[in-house]
Amino acid sequence: MAEVSAGNPCPFLRALVAHDYLDDGVVPLPEVTRTITRVAAAGEGDSDLPDRAVRLIALIANGISPAQLVRNSRQGLHLNALRDGPLDKHGAGSRILDVKVHVNESELDRLDTFASDKQRPEGGTERGLDHAEITRYMEANYERARGHRRRIDRKLMNGEFPELLRVIGRDGPQGRYLPLDDVRRLFIEQKLPQRILDGLKQL
Ligand code: HEM
Repeated sequence: MAEVSAGNPCPFLRALVAHDYLDDGVVPLPEVTRTITRVAAAGEGDSDLPDRAVRLIALIANGISPAQLVRNSRQGLHLNALRDGPLDKHGAGSRILDVKVHVNESELDRLDTFASDKQRPEGGTERGLDHAEITRYMEANYERARGHRRRIDRKLMNGEFPELLRVIGRDGPQGRYLPLDDVRRLFIEQKLPQRILDGLKQL
């Protein structure tokens, strides 16, 4: 696994760097978009991400001054310099990763309190979160950050855990859910689920 800079607080992008799908430094925007779309295509079900939305996020992620926009559009996304950028919610999110990207286990346990037992596609059950549970979790995180949150933070959240549900979620008999074990592995080990890695090999 490759080393990932502490300047990258996105658990999903951290895993892409750790798996060597993306460089830890500067990555041209088309490559960022292509890689994210490929990973999404390796998942279960309909998880096509709109290229344009990902490209726009990558364009503004390091700063929105005209000079920064020109720099990102010419050079690419600086994956190691996302901290304190426009997408950094400064603790208004899950707080699973702290500013030094250490994992806060008690926050992972708190995430579990929003989850429930889900039936796996191949039988048996596991802890997971469906769309409604993820929404309740995001509302609680936004509420907890009262006094030090921006209104945009709640909108930004929609591109994080719900997007993770779309990309790595599983389609169980009761609907789509995000397995809690996969979230833990993503945050703690920076690893994508094995089924996604297998799917990528077949693309
Ligand atoms: C170019 C694309 C992307 C950029 C620039 C980006 C950037 C970021 C940044 C800066 C954060 C930290 C926010 C904070 O700490 O407040 C973050 C968090 C997060 N992102 Fe990404 N991200 C991108 C794509 C994605 C995708 C495609 C997914 C899902 C498949 C994703 C899932 C998440 C999750 C789950 C969090 C954690 C939110 C939390 O802890 O509350 N991101 N992202």
